[in-house]
Amino acid sequence: MKVNTAEFIISNSDVSKCPLDRLPEYAFIGRSNVGKSSLINMLTNHKNLAKTSARPGKTQLINHFKINNNWFLVDLPGYGYARVSKKTKEVFQKFITDYFEKREQLVCAFILIDIRHEAQKIDLEFINYLGEIEVPFCIIFTKADKISRVKIDQSIASYRKSLLANNWEEMPPHFVTSSLEATGRDAVLEYIDSVNQE
Ligand code: GTP
Ligand code: MG
Repeated sequence: MKVNTAEFIISNSDVSKCPLDRLPEYAFIGRSNVGKSSLINMLTNHKNLAKTSARPGKTQLINHFKINNNWFLVDLPGYGYARVSKKTKEVFQKFITDYFEKREQLVCAFILIDIRHEAQKIDLEFINYLGEIEVPFCIIFTKADKISRVKIDQSIASYRKSLLANNWEEMPPHFVTSSLEATGRDAVLEYIDSVNQE
């Protein structure tokens, strides 16, 4: 799929104020600094459509980007940022869970995982939470430019093991990406296109 147009529509912390269009949307979620905003820029071929930073905690709101006038990409704040209060860390921010529980237009969540790290408790908790509320999801491994091909395969195999140990029967659809090198761009866009056609 070609991305012809990508426009920022609105930021907010209230799911009821998200765009009213009945267009399908795809949300990016994961730990702070995992590369959610960078991935949105890579997929849309824009340098600064979504704001990125080397410091975790950059994205603070729900951000809607309309693609090809036909569907939305949604950039969300990260979770698990060490400098937020313990309480905020323990429970995912209310407006984020509201988004996942109430947003009818959401067709698929992409959970971003840094390919360099072992499965983290907070990610597995979030995956289990999405399972409970029956939101379909995929896994996107990020920052693949930082390790070798062999290590990438090892990381994915190890992630599969962790999910199986968490009572998941199989790996969900998953993608290996690098926003630096545009790795995985076509695969993710084709996946979205195929879901949009359903
Ligand atoms: P929050 O909004 O704070 O939750 O972070 P985020 O998940 O949106 O991460 P962001 O896209 O802002 O990127 C965080 C840092 O990781 C930035 O310094 C990016 O340049 C870097 N980064 C993101 N993706 C990649 C990648 O694929 N490869 C490399 N090498 N660095 C990346
Ligand atoms: Mg961000």
